[in-house]
Amino acid sequence: MCGIVGYAGSLSAVCHRPLEVCLQGLGRLEYRGYDSAGVALVAPGMEQVAVRKKAGRLDNLMAEIDARPMPEATAGIGHTRWATNGEPSDVNAHPHRSGDGRIALIHNGIIENASRLKFDLEAEGYVFDSSTDSEVAAKLLGKIADQVIRENGAPDLFLAVRRLALMLEGAFTILAVDCRQPGIVVGARHDSPLVVGLGDGENFLGSDVAAFVAHTKRAMELGQDQVVCISAGGVEVTDFHGNQVQARNTFTVDWDASQAEKGGWDSFMDKEIHEDPAAVADTLRGRYDVNGDLDLDEVHISPDVFRQIDKIIVIACGTASYAGLVAKYAIEHWVRIPVEVELAHEFRYRDPILTPRTLVVAISQSGETMDTLMALRHAREQGSRVLAICNTRGSSIPRESDAVLYTHAGPEIAVASTKAFVAQIVATYLLGLYLAQVKGTMYRDEIHQMVDSLKAMPPKIQQVLDTQSETVRRTAARMLEARSFLFLGRHVGYPVALEGALKLKEIAYTFTEGFAAGELKHGPIALVEPGEPVVIIVPSSRGRDILHNKVISAIEEVKARGAYTIAVAEEGDPDVGRYADVVFWRPQCPTLLSPLVDVVPLQLFALDMAELKGLDVDKPRNLAKSVTVE
Ligand code: F6R
Repeated sequence: MCGIVGYAGSLSAVCHRPLEVCLQGLGRLEYRGYDSAGVALVAPGMEQVAVRKKAGRLDNLMAEIDARPMPEATAGIGHTRWATNGEPSDVNAHPHRSGDGRIALIHNGIIENASRLKFDLEAEGYVFDSSTDSEVAAKLLGKIADQVIRENGAPDLFLAVRRLALMLEGAFTILAVDCRQPGIVVGARHDSPLVVGLGDGENFLGSDVAAFVAHTKRAMELGQDQVVCISAGGVEVTDFHGNQVQARNTFTVDWDASQAEKGGWDSFMDKEIHEDPAAVADTLRGRYDVNGDLDLDEVHISPDVFRQIDKIIVIACGTASYAGLVAKYAIEHWVRIPVEVELAHEFRYRDPILTPRTLVVAISQSGETMDTLMALRHAREQGSRVLAICNTRGSSIPRESDAVLYTHAGPEIAVASTKAFVAQIVATYLLGLYLAQVKGTMYRDEIHQMVDSLKAMPPKIQQVLDTQSETVRRTAARMLEARSFLFLGRHVGYPVALEGALKLKEIAYTFTEGFAAGELKHGPIALVEPGEPVVIIVPSSRGRDILHNKVISAIEEVKARGAYTIAVAEEGDPDVGRYADVVFWRPQCPTLLSPLVDVVPLQLFALDMAELKGLDVDKPRNLAKSVTVE
């Protein structure tokens, strides 16, 4: 949701670097929320924290800073907001200041006891400018910091933030600066993300590593309920009670800042769709040996434990849950154990049946989706093992799981997930084939063949990008007036239909409905009227698959009622051309792997529709990249 950045440099170097680092970090984090942006700076001798903040995109803040330049500084914090509490406006933008203006605070999350705390503070005479829960935390921190000064005779922001953290209920990441201690930034986290960037003579904080990867690739995870104090010379971590935390989980960011830039593309989404082939290849790399046997030692679950697994439950949200649905078809077929796919936000409220032999697979691009995090905690409390499939190092979901299989899609900046989706599917295939290997449910030759087929997928995806983009663009141009779309698929084409529909609704703001083609006659066909566009994922015609014929019949049925039919079909299909108005062709591949190619024209279609409508494809309205509140 909100994006947070913090910077602490040398006290002897008062300069513009804190502002530059914060603004650059906000630029990279803007995908996390774009309702408002703001920065706060401190330097020796300042009487009050310098703050600039503005509703709307980061550009508005930049214009404000151009108009009212900020002073040179030694430390700073920056925030880009996805509004939860209080409408998007200048006053509700972060940072918020303490009553005397000496402290500034930024916050991500929801403080559930804010009304009660505000009531008490108002009774003491505190006045609030905004309607946010975050300002309550800022005013309270100011009060606590004054108490600390009275007790100790000197300011201690680190201690004050610890005391504040103990008083807050809900989910929060908080960063604070105090102009009486201009060499430090203090951060605290509870159920909300925060990572530390380790520099030379300077240190950083960020909601994710994108905030500081341009300056350092050395990062450190911060655990749940920890408080961190960064200065130019070091990083100190304690729990909320002040106990030092010695164990440091440091890692090196495995991508370059340039990968989080558009690099000549019109949009991140366009760039990221074109990175689908690389995301698949990179996620496969190193996970099989020269013979084609799966090698997943990295997950640190022993083959014996894997052998005991008798059920898989996938927990995920949105696009990630559709990757889970593809996994269901593949893993049940290969491993012969039941795979349930559950929306993470529904999971823990229905008392799911979990045993030590259940493997819960939490799929998440960001690694911070609160619904998924809560579901995985529930699964672990019930004694099940959780394996995370995740794209983000240092994030909460892998850190709280028993094991992790990283996708290597690289940073995904566009709000709508594309390359991460194909990478997630590949990771579930790897898991399925590995389980089949250790449980002996497939012959080794079959596994090797499947691995070979997987290795062949990146060029096939590239082929779709190279050969279908024009047709997709032309079709999108013809469909601009369409008020709604139906997406149909069967078997693994069903999750692809759901994903195609989601992409279109979230970035082109078109009403779409994705459903299993078999459901057509059970209700949705009533929606079909002359001209209604219907997108159909057609299974392979090779071997005259019974499903192929049934989906062709579905095309005929909607066509008979005047629908405009757009098919995604395998090259060589002799039938589809006769029934569909437009066909997006994809190369031949095993049915279970076909989502990797079928989804590509649908990603392009959503992109084209949104672009042609003049919409901001990377930052669709009302959405944020990682949903860190429940
Ligand atoms: C849609 C999209 C969302 C995410 C969902 C889960 O394009 O991106 O539906 O897939 O919010 O996010 P992660 O994978 O970060 O847990």
